Amino acid sequence: MGTKEALFTNVSIPVRSSGNKVTVVGVGQVGMACAFSILTQHVSSHVCLIDCVEDKLKGELLDLQHGSSFVKNAKVEASTDYAISAGSKVCIVTAGARQREGETRLDLVQRNTDIMKFIIPQLVKYSPDTILVIVSNPVDILTHVAWKLSGLPKHRVIGSGTNLDSSRFRFLLSQRLGVAPTSCHGYIIGEHGDSSVAVWSGVNIAGVRLRELNPKMGSANDAENWSQLHQQVIDSAYEVIKLKGYTSWAIGLSVSHIVGAIIRNTGNIQAVSVHVKGLHDIEQDVFLSLPAVLGEEGVTDVVNQILSVEEKGKLQSSAKLMAEVQDGLRF
Ligand code: NAI
Ligand code: 2OP
Repeated sequence: MGTKEALFTNVSIPVRSSGNKVTVVGVGQVGMACAFSILTQHVSSHVCLIDCVEDKLKGELLDLQHGSSFVKNAKVEASTDYAISAGSKVCIVTAGARQREGETRLDLVQRNTDIMKFIIPQLVKYSPDTILVIVSNPVDILTHVAWKLSGLPKHRVIGSGTNLDSSRFRFLLSQRLGVAPTSCHGYIIGEHGDSSVAVWSGVNIAGVRLRELNPKMGSANDAENWSQLHQQVIDSAYEVIKLKGYTSWAIGLSVSHIVGAIIRNTGNIQAVSVHVKGLHDIEQDVFLSLPAVLGEEGVTDVVNQILSVEEKGKLQSSAKLMAEVQDGLRF
């Protein structure tokens, strides 16, 4: 009899599944920030990592496993074989090329579409009831590509979208107003990228709409130049990429928040990339961010925001741009 057999009298077979398994594909800067946030915020007790670079994957696995006693004994696994992802409640896709300085997110589109063609069928093969959270850029277009490749219903395919941009916006509002970011209510919608739309008509603090105090807020002829905050949101990624080469922590936290809402079935409203055809008179078959209710089925509802004529026009322009890029894609 071995030591283990002498130590224990087996009573039943241990359950292997936690019921909250999360797979992260791509263990680069973004994938690891997502995994780290999910583990340290106790969003899941079972995280599975996948990448095509074996050594890097093993290194990241060991490094996280060595800290497992500090994250409530969460289980972390890794493999280049997608079989390891079987039974995942949520699969996060962060694999692919990132922008170099001077590149836009849209410049990555065909390279990352080609990567999706391999990844998405594998994930769905092993987790046919999963919810896909796409993070790789350009995220709105790749969410559409993933939806088509997966065969999943549209509410189960979500892009991380402008949840991150909205967080950047609230941070900047908080700096200017001197209050906490979570007390600044405002949304960036549309493309996660250069054509995003700031919903100035709805920005409020404790229910006080700032447009009622400053009717020109967000417009080009506002003496206080609040529109600069939206420009700063658009420039954020370019600035961070110029300074450190990539963005990681904020997107990791943003994705962890989205995944937490799904796993805990909370009904949180977050700006994520959803199928928008038919909403706000959008005619194109595209994904863009709108505030959406998140739960264990993925997206349950999309908020019908009351947009100004200008905001709606800008959102429709984002949709046209997405459709034009999609038309040129091979997948
Ligand atoms: P990275 O270069 O650090 O990591 C990419 C990882 O993907 C690498 O580990 C690579 O081995 C892996 N990979 C590439 N092809 C693969 C395949 N076929 N199968 C499995 N793994 C594969 O890049 P980083 O900085 O992590 O960025 C990843 C993506 O996330 C980029 O597209 C970037 O633009 C995007 N991103 C999106 C954000 C958002 O808000 N949606 C925010 C920040 C980045
Ligand atoms: C970001 O906004 C680059 O999409 C990435 O941080």
